[in-house]
Formats: sequence, structure tokens, C-alpha cells
Amino acid sequence: MSDSIIRTEQLSRWFRRGPQEVRAVDGVDMRVEEGEFLAIIGASGSGKSTLLNLLAGLDTPTSGRIEFRGTSLDSLSRRELASYRALRIGMMFQSFNLIHHRSALENVELALYFNDCPVRERRSRAAAMLERLGLADRTAHRPGDLSGGEQQRVALARALAKNPAILLADEPTGNLDRRNADQIMSLLSDLNARGLTIVMVTHDVETAGRNARRIVRMHYGRVVADSGASGEARR
Ligand SMILES: Nc1ncnc2c1ncn2[C@@H]1O[C@H](COP(=O)(O)OP(=O)(O)OP(=O)(O)O)[C@@H](O)[C@H]1O
Ligand SMILES: [Mg+2]
Repeated sequence: MSDSIIRTEQLSRWFRRGPQEVRAVDGVDMRVEEGEFLAIIGASGSGKSTLLNLLAGLDTPTSGRIEFRGTSLDSLSRRELASYRALRIGMMFQSFNLIHHRSALENVELALYFNDCPVRERRSRAAAMLERLGLADRTAHRPGDLSGGEQQRVALARALAKNPAILLADEPTGNLDRRNADQIMSLLSDLNARGLTIVMVTHDVETAGRNARRIVRMHYGRVVADSGASGEARR
């Protein structure tokens, strides 16, 4: 067996809206290998964010399964699932989900709350990650006083500070100009080179092509193309 970090089996998430049923994720069989840098692309509404939320354990499948390092998420207790989310998963949301009445530093620090990390170390790790993302002079700002791109980088700092097993990033460069986008992508490539597994959702095929080693395309909730379909990561 290969060493997949995540494996899904006929994973589906359907939403009912009135009489209509939206098959946001529809029978996805996917493996993410340890150390991989995978990009998920696809039109708006194709199910990319829904899939990422499922992988993060933030949403429950309508049917099908997700395994993380061989353990099925549906076999976890609520407490175990909470700890999976808090310790293993670094999630960067498309809409950031920052806490508005907290500073950038506090937003990042809060991600370390469940990490058994002493308060002082939480603060220094949070500050170091913000600095790495070019936000050293924005730590005291609240999200509302930051630009879209800055908020995006705070969200990324929050996802990375806990040193997760896998980073799930939803449009990590969506609000950035080319220079900042390139900076973020080179940071992600660097982290991936050091062993971090990354699943990144992006609209930007060029960004995906230049950085990810494997590209999966979604269409109406299904995986319709996978550059690593053999299960092998390729460049
Ligand atoms: N909570 C929900 N209730 C009802 N429908 C939903 C819900 N969440 C998502 N959907 C629907 O599921 C489909 C997939 O949505 P999703 O957000 O996963 O798309 P996406 O690929 O991330 O799109 P985008 O590129 O615009 O972010 C869409 O048609 C959306 O309207
Ligand atoms: Mg989305």
C-alpha cells in the first residue's frame, strides 16, 4: 500500500434547497499522498470548497468515507474529530473566517490554543509566522483594518502556525497581486519541500500549473481529470 495521508471513497455531499438537490460533491474517490502538493481546480460551484470542508472534518458527508492515515473520520468521537481539526488540519478558508474583534496576532495565537503550547510560546510562534508572511507591522491590527490580501495572509499564518500534518488552502492567493501571490506560492513550495502536504484550491490554472505537482479538476462535484491518476505524483 502507498502511504496516503488522505483517502476518500465515493465521497458525496448533497444539499437540498427547496425541491432542488445540489450534488456539490458527488462520488469522489481520491488519494492524497504524504508530502504531495495537489491543486484542485474547477469552475465556480464545482464543489471545491465543499470537498475541502469535508476533508477538514468541518462538514459531514451525505455518503462515502474519508480516511486520514488509515483511520476513517466517521469512526472518531466528537472529541477525536475536534482534535483532528485542531491539531492535524491547517485550514485556510476562502472567506478567511478571521475573528473580527481580535488582532491579527490573537487570531493566529488562537489556533495554537489546543496545541498544549504555553501562552508565551503561542505568542512568539504566532508573531514569527506573521513576520514570515510579511505582516510584522500588522500584528496589532484587527481584520477590518487590514486589506483583503493582508487578511488572506493572516488566515494562512493561522493555518500554518500549528504546524499541521496537511494544509488545506482555499484560494490562498485569490485576493493578492502577482508579487504577493508569488511570495505566498514560494512560501508554500518551500514548506512542501520540507515535507508539508498541501491541498490547494485555485481558480488560477497558471498558479496551479507552476506550483503544484498534481492537478485535479472538478466539474459538477466530480473529479473529471487527475494529472496523477496513477496515484503517482508527477511534475
Ligand atoms: N450550505 C449549502 N447549502 C446549499 N448549497 C450549497 C451549500 N454549500 C455549497 N452549496 C452549493 O454546492 C455547490 C458547490 O459549492 P462550492 O462552494 O463547493 O463551490 P466552489 O467550487 O468552491 O466554488 P467557488 O469557486 O465559487 O468558490 C454550489 O452549487 C453551491 O451553491
Ligand atoms: Mg469555493
